[in-house]
Amino acid sequence: MKRELVIVMDFGGQYNQLIARRVRECNVYCEIYSYKIDIEKIKEMNPKGIILTGGPSSCYEEDSATYSKELFELGIPVLGLCYGAQLMQHLLGGKVERASVREYGKSELTVDNSSVIFSNVKTKSTCWMSHFDYISQAAPGFTITATTPDCPVAACENKEKDLYAIQFHPEVLHTEEGTKMLSNFVLNVCHCAGDWRMDSFVEEQIKAIREKVGDGKVLCALSGGVDSSVAAVLLSKAIGNQLTCVFVDHGLLRKNEGDEVEAVFGPNGNYELNFIRVNAQQRYYDKLKGVTEPENKRKIIGEEFIRVFEEEAKKIGAVDFLVQGTIYPDVVESGLGGESAVIKSHHNVGGLPDHVDFREIIEPLRDLFKDEVRKVGLELGIPEYLVFRQPFPGPGLGIRIIGEVTEEKVRIVQDADAIYREEIAKAGLDRTIGQYFAALTNMRSVGVMGDERTYDYAVALRAVNTIDFMTAEAAQIPYDVLNKVMSRIINEVRGVNRVFYDITSKPPGTIEFE
Ligand code: XMP
Repeated sequence: MKRELVIVMDFGGQYNQLIARRVRECNVYCEIYSYKIDIEKIKEMNPKGIILTGGPSSCYEEDSATYSKELFELGIPVLGLCYGAQLMQHLLGGKVERASVREYGKSELTVDNSSVIFSNVKTKSTCWMSHFDYISQAAPGFTITATTPDCPVAACENKEKDLYAIQFHPEVLHTEEGTKMLSNFVLNVCHCAGDWRMDSFVEEQIKAIREKVGDGKVLCALSGGVDSSVAAVLLSKAIGNQLTCVFVDHGLLRKNEGDEVEAVFGPNGNYELNFIRVNAQQRYYDKLKGVTEPENKRKIIGEEFIRVFEEEAKKIGAVDFLVQGTIYPDVVESGLGGESAVIKSHHNVGGLPDHVDFREIIEPLRDLFKDEVRKVGLELGIPEYLVFRQPFPGPGLGIRIIGEVTEEKVRIVQDADAIYREEIAKAGLDRTIGQYFAALTNMRSVGVMGDERTYDYAVALRAVNTIDFMTAEAAQIPYDVLNKVMSRIINEVRGVNRVFYDITSKPPGTIEFE
């Protein structure tokens, strides 16, 4: 069955993934492509609609990101957002000029409800603006459908040709009615059926995996994280025991995590698959002995993972397929999808193994955003605590311990982190904070416990709110919760006599603590 498709053409704006996600929330499948995509390829894909994103250029300047006017003659509805709107107007004969000041932030929007884009949208609402240039005159054939105090053309359209331009950002949550506007475009202008749902995705994938794998053997590196767990279960449902999952316990997991993963995926667990747990803890501690430089630690952990995995794979012998839990943001961020390429090489545990004998890679989640992966997980009946697990870096606690990693320090940070997570959950904050964890500073200082002088470590608590993990702000955790966590950690975790709360945002900090 061919999927209905909307294309997001990326002109380098910061919200490209957000646009795609919002469209998917309308149950419409969409993909991101660079604005350099060949028009022939677009014709071939025959999308139901095209969205042009924002971007940093000025459309009237030479060398700015642009596209052939032919795009607007294909008979496919086009929605231009911010830079995309300006470019559309510029190419079709409207006027785009530099404003005297940059407009950034919330603005009061007035819309014409007779426009399909604004049908069932409040006549007056708040929208989010971020632009230098503005459309001073709409292109011939276009009518103005929205204004703000600073924008004479906040939106305009050519209904006959199904071309729509919006100066603000409907994809950003600050635009109150934004989701409705995008939904109006994809459902009522493009006439998408809105049938992109995770239950049909699961069915479709299981069928496709069976067809592809036949009676072949499949190998999967299971980390216990959301992506690899969902990928593994999907494969297990499709091909059962033809799947072997190798779970490497590198001794840098959260408290009890190794046993939890084994309980779900192991021989007494919920799924039909071959499960191999490799207890490589000591091997990692030995390799990490004396190593303090963060990049070195990452490298050692990544390389060691590949070695351990290869050794296990060798015992199994040749396989036909290797599973990877790649998800759509990985595809986009590694520069294969959109234009705003941010290479996050360090986010893969350590690349692909060189010495595993396999024919092909299977990436069943390659088209999905994280929230969709979670929905698939629930659809597959994976326990909620696994599905809603917060992101945990491949190198694990190795990058939450400053300085040398030792077994003792791992124990301290595991215990402190377990207490922290327990109290955050008790306070009902576990689903509202983006990411939170305890880390171990390399600082020891004097304290007093009972009548005794102590000289112990300081634990740092981190909690951030973030949309895309590229920027983040420290969460404002209620003081009584922090106080409780502090007192429990100091009383229950041997070797700790101080607790800090890290209020640094990203940038300048990072989310991890290494
Ligand atoms: P930073 O520390 O770069 O983290 O602000 C951003 C997000 O990425 C996660 N992270 C990693 N995830 N392997 C991973 O799988 C890694 O090497 C890695 N480093 C950071 C981090 O937990 C946060 O969610």
